Amino acid sequence: MATILTFLLVATFLRPLATAKSTIEPCSNFDTCSALVGYSLYTDLKVSELASIFSVDPISLLLVNAIDISYPDVENHILPAGLFIKTPISCSCVDGIRKSSSTVYKTRPSDTLASISAVIYGGLVSADQIKGANPKAALSDPSVLNIGTKLNIPLPCTCFDNKDNDLPTIYMSYLVTPTDTLMGLAARYATTLTDLMNVNALGSPAIEEGDNTTTLTDLMNVKAVGSPAIEDCDILAIPLSACASNFPRYASDYGLFVPNGSYAIAASHCVQCSCGPGSRSLYCMPTSLAVSCSSMQCKRSNLMLGNVTSQSTSAGCKVTSCSYDGFVNGTIITSLSTSLQPRCPGQQQFPPLVSPPKALPDSLFAPTQAPAPAPSHSPSPSESGGFPKKHSNQKPSVLPSSGAVLGFPPTNIPTGNASVESSGTGSLVNPFSIISTTFLLGSVFKFLLSLPF
Ligand SMILES: *[C@@H]1O[C@H](CO)[C@@H](O)[C@H](O)[C@H]1NC(C)=O
Ligand SMILES: *[C@@H]1O[C@H](CO)[C@@H](O)[C@H](O)[C@H]1NC(C)=O
Ligand SMILES: *[C@@H]1O[C@H](CO)[C@@H](O)[C@H](O)[C@H]1NC(C)=O
Ligand SMILES: *[C@@H]1O[C@H](CO)[C@@H](O)[C@H](O)[C@H]1NC(C)=O
Ligand SMILES: *[C@@H]1O[C@H](CO)[C@@H](O)[C@H](O)[C@H]1NC(C)=O
Repeated sequence: MATILTFLLVATFLRPLATAKSTIEPCSNFDTCSALVGYSLYTDLKVSELASIFSVDPISLLLVNAIDISYPDVENHILPAGLFIKTPISCSCVDGIRKSSSTVYKTRPSDTLASISAVIYGGLVSADQIKGANPKAALSDPSVLNIGTKLNIPLPCTCFDNKDNDLPTIYMSYLVTPTDTLMGLAARYATTLTDLMNVNALGSPAIEEGDNTTTLTDLMNVKAVGSPAIEDCDILAIPLSACASNFPRYASDYGLFVPNGSYAIAASHCVQCSCGPGSRSLYCMPTSLAVSCSSMQCKRSNLMLGNVTSQSTSAGCKVTSCSYDGFVNGTIITSLSTSLQPRCPGQQQFPPLVSPPKALPDSLFAPTQAPAPAPSHSPSPSESGGFPKKHSNQKPSVLPSSGAVLGFPPTNIPTGNASVESSGTGSLVNPFSIISTTFLLGSVFKFLLSLPF
């Protein structure tokens, strides 16, 4: 919380309104960090299609949402429109500001910068920002782009040293929807109102940018605005508690952070790591995926990666563990450690997995539902992710409001497989054929605003 005052709020898109603010993090080094982007599917998408929109490994995408990957043919599973998911991204420093530099979008027929911005990426990035990140691509919005053009998509992200209140944290960029409140978001993501306001500089005078770009020079010339309220389309950084890795800098998975209640895959799919419940330590073990892997046995012991043995002694419990220490040059590094603890650890606990969602929870479409009340308990990660929780009867309080905000009237709900079947080959369907009128109007409005008048 100490350094928060340096975090500025700037207008990013909907330029003429100049109201949408985004929490950005100035930066000056070339380090990258693990970050997340919250995203609501604009149409039914296969897991692999969704992963390609964000240039991420489908397995990583599923695991960070605690979705069971042992499900048959899981990469071709179709996720429903409106589903809220967290996407892992690598957060870099570009032109003095934290953003994703590894997200690449390959244009498809009839894409425009405005549609890529407002529809595919749901407003997380503006057309101008995409334009700015692709100086060589000779873009002339709103005209249709050449098919197959590879565009860098500078998604918003923050690192903030992967800490919040000095505890390991991964930050999720979150696009505010009209029904969101800070209290509701704090409850949904098991953080506090104070933290959310501090991280996003909402308590202190925020800075509003009047221009369409987000260069540092512009940030220096901005006027202060005082409103702590959040508004539709603001982009917030939401701190999620996480488990930190402690791999050496030369490991290819250096800096891995795993959000509480989820999993990550490492070492070319050989190792899976999990975080929580009940522990803030990263726990890694071999995956059950059929891949060939280098040895996962700890040297000078018969313990395998993930094995923990304990032995009660008069002085306490002697715990020996074989843990994962990173992936170096194709080799899985393990380390054996012994410690004396007051009590012997119990059985390793794993975050609960959900099966791949097939449909949004019914209650999402309940007629004109009032903004979801903030849950009075700390929601579990699966709830926060917006997945239908197995055996749950408390849906309304934990729904992803972003899904509801798309405003699908009941008659327009793209049912599980219908809309994708009509597209034939499983390629992306024309977004406009299935997006609701409400969302369509919103998008057109955004297109108009983004035209260079
Ligand atoms: C050690 O780990 C391996 C691989 O996960 C597992 O099959 C085995 O049962 C574990 N052994 C002990 C003693 O925990
Ligand atoms: C990785 O392998 C290359 C060549 O095999 C070697 O030069 C390099 O030092 C190795 N890196 C580490 C961290 O071991
Ligand atoms: C992690 O999530 C669980 C719920 O799944 C919660 O009980 C626990 O307090 C969380 N841990 C931390 C450190 O936030
Ligand atoms: C999906 O398709 C199958 C077979 O084509 C059909 O039985 C099922 O009802 C469909 N589900 C939905 C949600 O439309
Ligand atoms: C963005 O602002 C710059 C001035 O900073 C201006 O030259 C440019 O035309 C603007 N672009 C659009 C699309 O409005």
